Amino acid sequence: MVRHRNSGYYARLFLNGKELWRIRKKGCDREGTGRWWRHTKVGQMFFSLHARIFPTGLVCAAALLLSPGAVLLSQDAGADAKTAKTPKATGSDGDKRRELHLYMKGRFLFQKHCVDCHGKTGRGNGPFAAELETKPRNFRTGLFKFRSTPFGRLPVKEDLQRTIRTGISGTAMPFFKEISDEDVDALIVYLQSLSRKWKDPALAAEPLTIPPVPEWFDEEAVAAAHAARGGTRFAQLCALCHGAEGKGDGQGAGRLMDAWNEPIVPADLSVPRYKSGESPRDLYRTIATGLNGTPMIGYADLLQENEIWELVAFIRALGQDAKPGAIEPQP
Ligand code: HEC
Ligand code: HEC
Repeated sequence: MVRHRNSGYYARLFLNGKELWRIRKKGCDREGTGRWWRHTKVGQMFFSLHARIFPTGLVCAAALLLSPGAVLLSQDAGADAKTAKTPKATGSDGDKRRELHLYMKGRFLFQKHCVDCHGKTGRGNGPFAAELETKPRNFRTGLFKFRSTPFGRLPVKEDLQRTIRTGISGTAMPFFKEISDEDVDALIVYLQSLSRKWKDPALAAEPLTIPPVPEWFDEEAVAAAHAARGGTRFAQLCALCHGAEGKGDGQGAGRLMDAWNEPIVPADLSVPRYKSGESPRDLYRTIATGLNGTPMIGYADLLQENEIWELVAFIRALGQDAKPGAIEPQP
């Protein structure tokens, strides 16, 4: 049963006695009509709810329309939607509709799978957050650590796909292997609606090219010589934070803060469980692009390609020394 009540302050919609939706803003004190929409899921179906509020004498009347699937864009007065703008649709009607469909689906999936950690409005303050040492990302800041793009820029879609599909090892961020490609895309469209940074063309960037892994990587003796050179460079550039043996205990460690005002420790590189992957190409990407929001900058402009590969070889050698038992799952 669908019914609506109107107190003059907001319209509410009930389905089987459960409040599905309400308008919190006054609609009547404005000229003309107020118009809102919101989406919800009933059973397996997505519905969009349209409301039109208009003054009729002393009271407000609200007309509500329940329609399946995609909707036309109008003002969203949802409580948490004030800053989270619905993506401005551009392009053809078909694109517009698809974008909205993904946004609606993404928002629903986010509420289902992500809010416990990332919080209802994506501020990283879900109920689990207090317990976690590495805090869930606050998506309102538009800062992403794991990217293939230059330091300071936004990630590309593939980067977010990788994070969602593979999770972030050593942290609470789980992997979502079972969900469909479309669901991942939908989550990404929703994440991109949470910060204005996504609208700034200056922050968008193409991925850096990762050159092919050098042939010497497979020849043990040659690789060892390169790794040794990498070690010398590591001592100059990286040991301050990561420590001489890469254990994350350099002089500078212990007082580092991240962009979200949380203490952060340099990675222990002697344990091959890196957040952004442990293949040589993953490590190259991490060193070249850095991790936004952390003291770990990108070295693409500071080092030559072969110098980065030598660092990768050094870190891989550190990791190989780790005993299998040293890698324990963390909460
Ligand atoms: C159990 C807690 C938890 C859940 C559930 C969770 N995350 Fe996370 N997520 C984290 C933590 C913790 C981090 C921060 C890891 C770090 O900074 O190293 C994170 C980071 C991220 C990042 C940032 C990656 C970057 O490059 O900075 C993305 C994107 C992300 N999560 C997406 C999602 C999505 C989408 C969902 C739901 C489908 C989700 N997370 C569910 C805990 C969680
Ligand atoms: C100013 C301190 C600082 C310096 C200098 C620094 N790092 Fe880092 N590095 C960090 C911090 C902090 C993290 C952990 C970030 C996190 O966990 O989110 C990190 C993480 C890493 C990671 C792991 C990324 C992952 O996926 O888990 C690698 C690899 C790495 N650094 C390599 C290097 C190399 C190579 C250099 C030198 C060229 C270097 N770092 C210099 C602070 C630093």
